[in-house]
Amino acid sequence: MSNVSRRNFLRLGACAISGACAVNALPAIGRAAESPDITTLRTTLPYPRIKLAAIGRLKAGVEHLTAYPDPASPVVLLKLGRPAIEGIGPDQDIVAFSRRCSHMGGALVFRAETGTFHCPLHYAMFDAQKDGLMVIGQATDNLPRIELELDATGDIYAVGVKGLLYGRQANVLA
Ligand code: FES
Repeated sequence: MSNVSRRNFLRLGACAISGACAVNALPAIGRAAESPDITTLRTTLPYPRIKLAAIGRLKAGVEHLTAYPDPASPVVLLKLGRPAIEGIGPDQDIVAFSRRCSHMGGALVFRAETGTFHCPLHYAMFDAQKDGLMVIGQATDNLPRIELELDATGDIYAVGVKGLLYGRQANVLA
């Protein structure tokens, strides 16, 4: 055993007996949490910025099916034809939502005439114009809304999610 390792061994033994090592360890924990290299200590992961469609391809009331933030999360992009909360575009009517019901993950059906999503499993209904508000049903959460951005060329990008996607502990998988 070298002099250095013998010294560390003796210091560790003294720490274990006296309990002083817990105090000495605190600055090291603080340094680790501040390190930009250690991502496992973060509580959230960054969302990807993904192009969903060009604005010219959207037709009022017609679903554009896609996925975000990964292929396992089905999403619908919509031009509602009437202004919506957090709607983007010249008419403030373009929104996107998860297609999985917030109750038990049922595959939602959109009805353009009412601007609502309907769940075939237990009949929950969500209002696309009102930020995915649950109108009726057994779900306890509104429908997760995809945060959108429109760039100068008319491309629509998904940049985040408001609400927790059904079946996940975090929207962005590690
Ligand atoms: S899964 Fe949609 S209401 Fe139950």
